[in-house]
Amino acid sequence: MPWPIVGNTFQLPKNKPWIYFEEISKRMNAPVITYWIGRNPTVWINDAWAASEIMDKRAAIYASRPRMIVFGELSTGQTNLVSMYYGDRWRVHRKLTHMGVGLQHVRSYSGFQDNESKVVALDLLKTPDNYVMHFERYAASVVSIIGFGRRISTPSDPIITEVIAVMQRAGELNVPGTSFPMLLETFPILARFPNWMAPWKHGLGGGKGRGRNFYYALTEEAVRQNTHPECYSRKLWDEAPKYDLSNAEISSLTGNLFGAGSDTSSSTLITFVLACCAFPEALVKAHEELDRVVGPNRSPSLDDDLPYVRAFVKEVFRWRSVAIIGGQPHAPIADDVWNGYLIPKNTWVQGNVWAIHHHDREFPDPDRFCPDRYFKDHPLYRPFPNDKGYMTFGWGRRVCAGQGLAEQGTTLSVARLLWGFNIKKALDKSTGKEVAVDINAYTNGLNMRPQPFDCRWIPRSDEIRKTIEREGRQALEDLAQYDGETQYRMSTFYKQEKLIEGKVPANDEKRR
Ligand code: HEM
Repeated sequence: MPWPIVGNTFQLPKNKPWIYFEEISKRMNAPVITYWIGRNPTVWINDAWAASEIMDKRAAIYASRPRMIVFGELSTGQTNLVSMYYGDRWRVHRKLTHMGVGLQHVRSYSGFQDNESKVVALDLLKTPDNYVMHFERYAASVVSIIGFGRRISTPSDPIITEVIAVMQRAGELNVPGTSFPMLLETFPILARFPNWMAPWKHGLGGGKGRGRNFYYALTEEAVRQNTHPECYSRKLWDEAPKYDLSNAEISSLTGNLFGAGSDTSSSTLITFVLACCAFPEALVKAHEELDRVVGPNRSPSLDDDLPYVRAFVKEVFRWRSVAIIGGQPHAPIADDVWNGYLIPKNTWVQGNVWAIHHHDREFPDPDRFCPDRYFKDHPLYRPFPNDKGYMTFGWGRRVCAGQGLAEQGTTLSVARLLWGFNIKKALDKSTGKEVAVDINAYTNGLNMRPQPFDCRWIPRSDEIRKTIEREGRQALEDLAQYDGETQYRMSTFYKQEKLIEGKVPANDEKRR
């Protein structure tokens, strides 16, 4: 029962509310539940079929976002596609985003995406213990080439360390819970206080768009240097007058490549490693398939016929999905009735991906990582409402705009790393025995990733090691055309901004 004014807010657990919503849903035997955050009903969909019926089949209705204080009004609000209400401006942003990462372009990125993943394999030979940093560099570099025509060559590049830290912090702050700033969703009035007297706002809304100016500056720099006129910044710059884009809009469009596309992609690869350590039996068939189809003298490519490896990728997406509550909530643009329940216009509707992907009706023995479950003749196979077999990228009109890029990159990387290495649990230094990994040790963010763990990367043969070295060196040569550095740093951006005054107009001023 919701309490007056505060609703159910204070019944929320400290961590991982998605597990709590899954439990309520099971206890009540209800695929969809309503949970009151303050005076707002939030609808939690805990079942694949209900999610598909509501957010996919009725996509034209569930196409908007609800009012969000923390992720919306105090952040990038109506200048960012991710939190934007459905309407003409959203359509413009979606179209402009497709110009960068739409399916028609994604295949043409496979060359440098593949090369960056070859560099990861090479890096893993040299410094395997830094695998997380290698993944972060890879993911950030791919979107940086797309966005700015410039690769990121070292894991210590501040673009990676700062941007990923900001994204993880944003992810942690945005988990529904009983602490600030998310309590502002329960008490929106507290968001009106100025920041100097409102520590509960965690500085949100008071930064005058530091991140925005940073991405705007990166965009402007790429256009000015013009070393890769085919990059997204250039395309966007040319389109800007036609759509009357403000600086804040330009920066949100290029910034989303990092914001939405780097932490998500690298976290997915860390989950892949955890699965390999915890379920070594799943690697046997992958290695057999890769040896048979690819062999040791080249690494796999997108054209190889590798059904088990493809199922492996699906299972990575399902088993521990990074956007564990489906990213941002949807909201209906009109009152809707589903199964006799009224879902009023603008209601907060959230797909609980954790519950959906762990429902034992669709995924028996759900915590077990088992790529075979995607083959129809396997005992764990069960029907699913969509052909892909997962809902990792959301639903309907708000489905992830970078899905094609993320799927392509994850496929390339997972296939190559399975082909190249035996990925195993770390050995205890004193006993020499394998150290157990915890498949439930995940961060609490909206984009979750495994807590740090050690592992071993053992090249599968000497021939494979040589191939990795040869391909890695060649990849670095091919990628050299994207070498370069930016003069900007997010952390010092205010300082930098002063230096370039006159070049970067005020944040919300229109660019003409
Ligand atoms: C493994 C990687 C990724 C995952 C799991 C992921 C997941 C998601 C999810 C769950 C949503 C919300 C969907 C919904 O509301 O129904 C979303 C939205 C979005 N994603 Fe991704 N994403 C990934 C990578 C990327 C990449 C690489 C980009 C771009 C470079 C990107 C750009 C976006 C954008 C712009 C939106 C907002 C779409 C809108 O509201 O209309 N994502 N993503």
